[in-house]
Amino acid sequence: MSKVPWSIERLQVVDDVAIDGLVDVLIDCVEGGASVSFMHPLTRDRATAFWRRVAQGVAAGERVLLVAEDAHGLCGCVQLMFDLPENQPHRADLSKMLVHRRVRRQGLGAALMQAAESAARECGKTLLVLDAVTGGDAARLYERLGWVRVGDIPNYALFPQGGLCSTTVFYRNVAG
Ligand SMILES: CC(C)(COP(=O)(O)OP(=O)(O)OC[C@H]1O[C@@H](n2cnc3c(N)ncnc32)[C@H](O)[C@@H]1OP(=O)(O)O)[C@@H](O)C(=O)NCCC(=O)NCCS
Repeated sequence: MSKVPWSIERLQVVDDVAIDGLVDVLIDCVEGGASVSFMHPLTRDRATAFWRRVAQGVAAGERVLLVAEDAHGLCGCVQLMFDLPENQPHRADLSKMLVHRRVRRQGLGAALMQAAESAARECGKTLLVLDAVTGGDAARLYERLGWVRVGDIPNYALFPQGGLCSTTVFYRNVAG
């Protein structure tokens, strides 16, 4: 049986080494044209500031951060956001699903999503929500994994190099 070339773990503490690897992955995705909140060029300082805030959220129990590593270092990540209104304790937003371009199209995106769903169940969450660029690689992945497509919001955000893109909202029931 073939073994995948990465491992996925939940980080309880996000140290400087992890932040450095997460910065590399985020900058690579933005350089590659992914619409993930940031415009191009994304400097290391801005990316580091973002991941430091994520690290604080993990320490506060407001987020779960899963990371994938291969022989070359950190190569992917995904987050679950728990910092939601008090009437939605059963729910999480899934965000910043990022796979470095050097390891794409080998199944890591699907593996990270499955790991995120397991982590959500372990934390007692039964409903996950996310959005992704309409018709993009990520939206195709989520549909393939069984996420339910709610609908599209036109002109939702900019691509990193400019130009508006539509987003598609998805949800998934992960109960049981
Ligand atoms: C979206 C994203 C996370 C997908 O990651 P990935 O690791 O490439 O995902 P997978 O490998 O599981 O699937 C991607 C494709 O590879 C194919 N694939 C998976 N394993 C494969 C294998 N062993 N051999 C050949 N193809 C394979 C899948 O069938 C899928 O094909 P499709 O795009 O034609 O549907 C990645 O493209 C990414 O990080 N994009 C930039 C950031 C981004 O947009 N994130 C989403 C925010 S909502």
